[in-house]
Amino acid sequence: MRTVTRRTFVGSALAGGAALVAPSLARAARRAARATLTDAHIDIMLDEPVGTIAPEIYGHFVENLGGVVYDGVWVGEQSRVPNIGGVRRALVEALRPIRPSVVRWPGGCFADDYDWHDGIGPRERRPRRTNVWADDPNFRNVGIVPQRYDPNQFGTQEFLHFCRLVGAQPYLAVNLRQLPARAFVEWVEFCNSPAGSTTLADLRAVGGDREPYNVRYWGIGNEAWGCGGNFTPEEYAAEYRRFATWNVPDYGVGLKFIGSGPSGGDVDWSRRFFAALDGRGDLGRMWGWALHHYSSPPSGGALQFDAPAWYGLLARGDQMESLITRHWQVMGERDRERRVKLVVDEWGAWYEMTTNVDPTHLFGQQSTVRDAVLTGLTLDTFNRHADKVAMANVAQLVNCIHSLFLARGDQFVVTPTYHVFAMYAAHQGAQAVRTAVTSPEIRWTTPEGEARTLRGLNGSASLRERTLTLTVTNPDLADTREAEIVVRGGSIRSVRATTLSSRDVHDHNTFDAPRAVVPAEAEVAVGGTPLAYRFPAASVTKLEITLGG
Ligand code: AHR
Repeated sequence: MRTVTRRTFVGSALAGGAALVAPSLARAARRAARATLTDAHIDIMLDEPVGTIAPEIYGHFVENLGGVVYDGVWVGEQSRVPNIGGVRRALVEALRPIRPSVVRWPGGCFADDYDWHDGIGPRERRPRRTNVWADDPNFRNVGIVPQRYDPNQFGTQEFLHFCRLVGAQPYLAVNLRQLPARAFVEWVEFCNSPAGSTTLADLRAVGGDREPYNVRYWGIGNEAWGCGGNFTPEEYAAEYRRFATWNVPDYGVGLKFIGSGPSGGDVDWSRRFFAALDGRGDLGRMWGWALHHYSSPPSGGALQFDAPAWYGLLARGDQMESLITRHWQVMGERDRERRVKLVVDEWGAWYEMTTNVDPTHLFGQQSTVRDAVLTGLTLDTFNRHADKVAMANVAQLVNCIHSLFLARGDQFVVTPTYHVFAMYAAHQGAQAVRTAVTSPEIRWTTPEGEARTLRGLNGSASLRERTLTLTVTNPDLADTREAEIVVRGGSIRSVRATTLSSRDVHDHNTFDAPRAVVPAEAEVAVGGTPLAYRFPAASVTKLEITLGG
């Protein structure tokens, strides 16, 4: 496609001629010709803690789908691709610094088609199976490849080794649609029973691990309203009880079960499930309620987008805030003690499949500055609701929708989304503090000509000892926005800024140009209170603020 820099984009808009330019962008461009806008305020209340930001909010998702596992994570021990016990070395090395708190596996829809027994024991003896995604119409002319016919080389122990390598906790999703509850109990036993205690513990030892893994997080099915069984909430509640209520041994681990929650705004699913479960007086070991929310633009793909597609995607992503509060309210009608938290275990941008780096990478897509802004917007939302959201898993880690990495053979690159996760890692485990952002709304127009608004600056702040981390997105395509930043209950000693933006919002990293979009760091001159800071258009910013004594 023709790349359009923001400057040429603006110029075209003023000329009113380019096909990619919509009226809202033209208006934004005219505004950009004026001075930086200074009518935004960020008030950070140090004395108003929201809750500890669970590191698990910065979690990931590895489904046996397309190129996520085969080519992405797993290359095999004999591969010419540098690896650690079969796992792509470059991936491990890139993941470690961003502290990937938790990884969900094996799906997604794949989970309800997977028998974990197939993935243990000597690799050369494991069965080959048809992957549940094999018939997807996006798979064309790819032949007999591991992405369609699963050789089961990456099973439970390989996944758990991967988690160990990158320092993440595992989160396993159970096959509720096809397998009996007994298979779940056996999987827990295989993973967690004490060394030498059971036949499955001995089998684990043969696979190289005598000691238990102590897997804590277990998803009881996936999308039970869809690929996970097409259940009604009441039917799923009955299945959930059968799987999770009795006889799953804990082995002293403190198992945490995650129920298959709603798609987006389907509060009926939440309300009826909780009513059905509570009606039998037992939330049991239910710890999390999984919410899935994907964002697609009104038109265009990952790389070709105009202003309505930029704002449309971000507006859809920004629905996360209301999804969290609405489901939280409904859950509280039954769970008065607030034992169950939200687990947003699938979120991200999902485009038509046209930019995958290999035909076997089903749902593979590129990522631009737009995806970076969506990432920041979403992570800030989770941080602001640290009291409600206990875990979140961006979908999916590599070679898929909203990925942090693209990999093919020995080629490997990190996406702008990766850089945002790196910038935001400072929030993990810190204390979220109430942060009020007031900023003029952005007006934009849908492809159908409807007038819409999107909030302007958006962000979150967290405190760890004397360091305050403030992260902010500016989704405005054209305007730098100056904000007055006030830290209530503290004083600012020094500020260091990390900014992710690019000359052209369509910029993205490729195997040939891996540093097209990278963050830049700078010291910020602190000239008194309040701090005035200019957030560039179409950017994600982290301010590391050292507080005075
Ligand atoms: O992430 C891709 C798919 O999206 C998952 O398998 C499924 O859970 C969801 O519908």
